[in-house]
Amino acid sequence: MNITLKINGIEHTIDAAPSITLLAALRGLGFYGIKFGDEQGLSGADTVLLDGKPVNAGSMLAAQAEGHDIVTIEALGEHPEQGWKKTDGLHPLQRAFVESGAIQCGYCTPAQILAAKALLDKYPNPSEEQVREAIAGVLCRCTGYVKPVQAVLKAAAAMRGDEPVNWDSVNWDLGNWSDQPSADQPGGSPSEQIANLLTRPKVVVTQQTQTYQTVGKPEKKVDAVKLVQGKPAFTADIDMRGMLYARVLRSPHAHARIKNIDASQARALKGVAAVLTWQDIPRVVYSTAGQSDPIPGPLDSFSLDNKVRFVGDRVAMVAAETPEIAEKALTLIDVEYEILPAILDSRAAMKPDAPRIHDEPEFVNFADSNAEKNLAAEIRIDIGDVEKGFAEADEIFEAEYAVPKVQQAHIEPHVCITYWDEDDRLVIRTSTQVPFHVRRMLAPVLDLPVKRIRVIKPRIGGGFGGKQEVLMEDVPAHLTIATRRPVIYEYTRDEEFIG
Ligand code: FES
Repeated sequence: MNITLKINGIEHTIDAAPSITLLAALRGLGFYGIKFGDEQGLSGADTVLLDGKPVNAGSMLAAQAEGHDIVTIEALGEHPEQGWKKTDGLHPLQRAFVESGAIQCGYCTPAQILAAKALLDKYPNPSEEQVREAIAGVLCRCTGYVKPVQAVLKAAAAMRGDEPVNWDSVNWDLGNWSDQPSADQPGGSPSEQIANLLTRPKVVVTQQTQTYQTVGKPEKKVDAVKLVQGKPAFTADIDMRGMLYARVLRSPHAHARIKNIDASQARALKGVAAVLTWQDIPRVVYSTAGQSDPIPGPLDSFSLDNKVRFVGDRVAMVAAETPEIAEKALTLIDVEYEILPAILDSRAAMKPDAPRIHDEPEFVNFADSNAEKNLAAEIRIDIGDVEKGFAEADEIFEAEYAVPKVQQAHIEPHVCITYWDEDDRLVIRTSTQVPFHVRRMLAPVLDLPVKRIRVIKPRIGGGFGGKQEVLMEDVPAHLTIATRRPVIYEYTRDEEFIG
């Protein structure tokens, strides 16, 4: 169907499926400032303004936006220097985010700025509480909220024509936190008012740092100007001719052997370019731990295997012309499992009669890992003469601690695009913290020499160690090798937790 969208004052007509979301439509038109964070709009990275109000573009259909005014970050401002062309430069909100150091990865920044714009368009003199409320729907995992709130207040002051905030005049010695002025009673110049609001970080800065030029002061990030404009700086912010979309069929069982797998119906589906199972690719054992050689973990992973070892483990991978076709293809793969006893407790896992999860002959031990006891690693660290210390101690306390599994929840999910370049190198454009390890570790998995793999690491939308694992780049890489076409694979938010 034809859908006409009025974006930043200009009408665009697209021919798309009725089910296309506003997020997909906008990104398809090249408005990459809007980001994917999750399917339900919980992260708020997909915020745009619809008739001046913030909405989650991933949670609404593009067709629902027909007849409405859509504003994206691309409409706000631009780099102040545009050659011979005169320009107003950045919007005051964008300038304030740059000057206040309110950006780290920048993935959430366009959404935060748009949410703040909606507020300031209505309330030019907002309270701190109103600012916090306005941007509450946009999660930030890196910067936190103190500096963005300061930036919005600073922009509001600038837009009202108040005296510009001079950060150098702020006394950063915060003294006793309980003596701070309340947000209800700001006083003095706008600079002092903003500095005195509760958004001041709860830190005490030593006298010496007040003489420093940088320490203890907001600092402009070198790439902040592009990030406040929502420039296409991230992995998924490109389009490639003929790009395929990857999806992975995942195990519903904690422990099972794949007795039979029939992908013929999926392969026959129109628009499917490739379906790969463990029978279609080389069986190469490796570790996904993205650290220097020797890798700090046993070699216990395969791109695909005839056994699944956790709920969410990979069973098959698909590349298709659209994400919807790829998802449909997953439902057409017929898998016969032999369900094996599951292990749900780490103590039970180490018992002699426990089922063995890694019974494959290729398993390579590391750091006292022990596949017979389902032990990934055993590490003991002594500092000094521990026995002597115990002998001399007045009391010895012993305890056992269990920690839950955690997920970093970076707002940008794992995402990777692969393609062959003009020199027959496999290009892996990926949101990773460890580009050189990606190349080294995937070379044997893909049966390519290292020199025929080129890894591009664009800006990443948060990683926090979660992207220090070479977790999913092999999926699109295998599919590009199979199809010779560019492939994008982007994790769903569910996959971040189970995959
Ligand atoms: S700067 Fe907000 S998510 Fe990274």
